[in-house]
Amino acid sequence: MKILGINSSPRGKNSRTLKLVDAVLDGARQHGAETELVDIGALDIRYCLGCLVCYAEGECVQEDDLAELVDKMLSADGIVLGSPVYMHGVTAQLKTVIDRMADAIHCQLLSGKYGCSVATCGGSGDSEVLDYMNHFLNELGIVTVGQVGVALDRNPAALDAAINEAFKLGMTLAESIQTKRPYPAQEKEIAARRAFFAQLIEANKADWVHQYEYWVEKGWM
Ligand SMILES: Cc1cc2nc3c(=O)[nH]c(=O)nc-3n(C[C@H](O)[C@H](O)[C@H](O)COP(=O)(O)O)c2cc1C
Repeated sequence: MKILGINSSPRGKNSRTLKLVDAVLDGARQHGAETELVDIGALDIRYCLGCLVCYAEGECVQEDDLAELVDKMLSADGIVLGSPVYMHGVTAQLKTVIDRMADAIHCQLLSGKYGCSVATCGGSGDSEVLDYMNHFLNELGIVTVGQVGVALDRNPAALDAAINEAFKLGMTLAESIQTKRPYPAQEKEIAARRAFFAQLIEANKADWVHQYEYWVEKGWM
């Protein structure tokens, strides 16, 4: 069982969010997972150009580190997303990755995997950012097992309790993968989204050739 942690703070080793991502990975290792951490701030990932070539051909026109990151996500059983709150949203680093994954969402490329999210902030906004990250994971076909967030500027000591929560979240993530734990409400939502995409891709099959062929090959249409 492989679990990939993705931190999106630009502060590298000084990142407080990294402490939560690391704690999730520690918890997962306790349950037998093999883990890997990626700091997307250290990668070369450029903005989406909106050209839609990926819809037609299945590959981005840009040659940067995104393809390798997606390969790592594909070979993982679980994915942990981490972001500090930046202006009530995720960091630009994470948003850039998210924008580049529209084709992966249309193809429901990460179906069958489990995930979770962690966030830190100065004062507020963590719960909205956590909901957004877990929603993004759901859009990829991933079932989410929880989230941990913490506001730190008025109470930096709160990080310790959040680290404990994140450790438990990591154990839940690994256990969910091991036991293929059902999450019926999310599975229903994911099935509804898949039905929606089936219609969308059918309606655009002349242009979105790669996506149509992928869906036919999967036997989903
Ligand atoms: C550009 C920028 C924007 C921020 N925006 C917010 C915000 O909207 N709300 C908030 O509570 N904290 C905000 N913060 C504070 C960070 O979310 C907080 O310090 C976080 O713990 C940093 O995480 P890191 O150490 O992993 O980078 C912002 C910080 C920066 C640098």
